[in-house]
Amino acid sequence: MMQQFLLDNFRRYQARGIEAHRRGDHKTARTSLLKAAELLFKLAAGSQGELKRIRQEKAYKLLEMAKSIAAKPSPTPLREERLAPQGEEADEGRGERWIVTDVPEVSFDDVAGLEDVKAVIRKRVIYPFQHPEVARKYRKQAGGGVLLYGPPGTGKTLIAKAVASEVDAAFLSARCSDVMSKWVGDAERNIKGLFDAARQRPRAVLFMDETEALVPKRGGDSTVMNRVIPEFLTQLDGIQGRHSGLLVLGATNRPWDIDEAALRPGRFGELVYVGLPDLPARRAIVAAALKGIPMAGEVDIDSLAADAAGLSGADLVGLCELAKDGPYEREIKTGVPQELELEDVQAARASLRPSVSAAQLARYEDFRRGLRAAR
Ligand SMILES: Nc1ncnc2c1ncn2[C@@H]1O[C@H](COP(=O)(O)OP(=O)(O)OP(=O)(O)O)[C@@H](O)[C@H]1O
Ligand SMILES: [Mg+2]
Repeated sequence: MMQQFLLDNFRRYQARGIEAHRRGDHKTARTSLLKAAELLFKLAAGSQGELKRIRQEKAYKLLEMAKSIAAKPSPTPLREERLAPQGEEADEGRGERWIVTDVPEVSFDDVAGLEDVKAVIRKRVIYPFQHPEVARKYRKQAGGGVLLYGPPGTGKTLIAKAVASEVDAAFLSARCSDVMSKWVGDAERNIKGLFDAARQRPRAVLFMDETEALVPKRGGDSTVMNRVIPEFLTQLDGIQGRHSGLLVLGATNRPWDIDEAALRPGRFGELVYVGLPDLPARRAIVAAALKGIPMAGEVDIDSLAADAAGLSGADLVGLCELAKDGPYEREIKTGVPQELELEDVQAARASLRPSVSAAQLARYEDFRRGLRAAR
């Protein structure tokens, strides 16, 4: 989606910058690297945790490099104030801003592991949409409510985006902080508008990120929440009977903060845990992140993945980003093609701590046990 578009562009400008620098075309090198830095700041604004920090740091490094390349003052001064970090949504208009019309460029194949999550989604939307007669025969309804929960950076948002390109359905997405409004009435209208827009399509996936912000347990003393929660629950109740082609996909990393009423069957009836990647998933994430990067013979993706137990998917992407800084910076400095060395990987691994703690994992385990006991 937006992130992927930014990432592709960032990579293009970065490669162009390095190439121009090698040719001795300082002007192109500088403008390309500045553009790459700007795109990376935008990417950082849309990322979380360790990945966000790494992207910001790298963007600042790119800025430094771009400046150091221009030994002579440039005849056309560059407007560097444009490079300040900005929120991605800063200049987006209000209204239907949460509605994503273009299908994100992420597919199930880009999501490593998470086979049980993919299976639930196939059962709920892909099969019924692909084989409507069979679904009718067995009285299987498409859609409903599915809540993905788990620690940060494990691919919840990623898989939701992948759903959009896997199913032949409209994809609407909202972060709950976008829907919420300090103006009483607006938030309810936003929610209703979102569900109305989804219901206008024969098949739709409505993705609600940060679900805990929309239906929090302790919403009782706030007037806004006193109106928002019932509105949301009413809309959610409506999806099963009236409109069987709508999948409401929620995501949260604080499932215990969600009002229990929202987790009742018929609402978010299915809860799916999205946990830390296992070895094959870690391997796939690392392989994708280092795809196309020239590597010295001693760098071994299998052992890198094996040593990375406890890291989230986002941590792994961050680890690879850090490691790539080694050859990248050497190449900028020397102008000679470089390779990713074992030391680059080791240095990156040493400076990165897992973003999910054992205590946090234990809390998810408790929550899962509680669910099993309740059902
Ligand atoms: N299973 C995975 N397969 C491939 N990439 C992954 C996976 N998990 C995480 N990533 C990488 O980490 C990034 C962040 O993941 P994502 O935004 O989906 O996490 P999240 O679970 O939604 O986190 P949060 O709970 O903080 O919102 C992704 O864009 C992707 O690069
Ligand atoms: Mg997310």
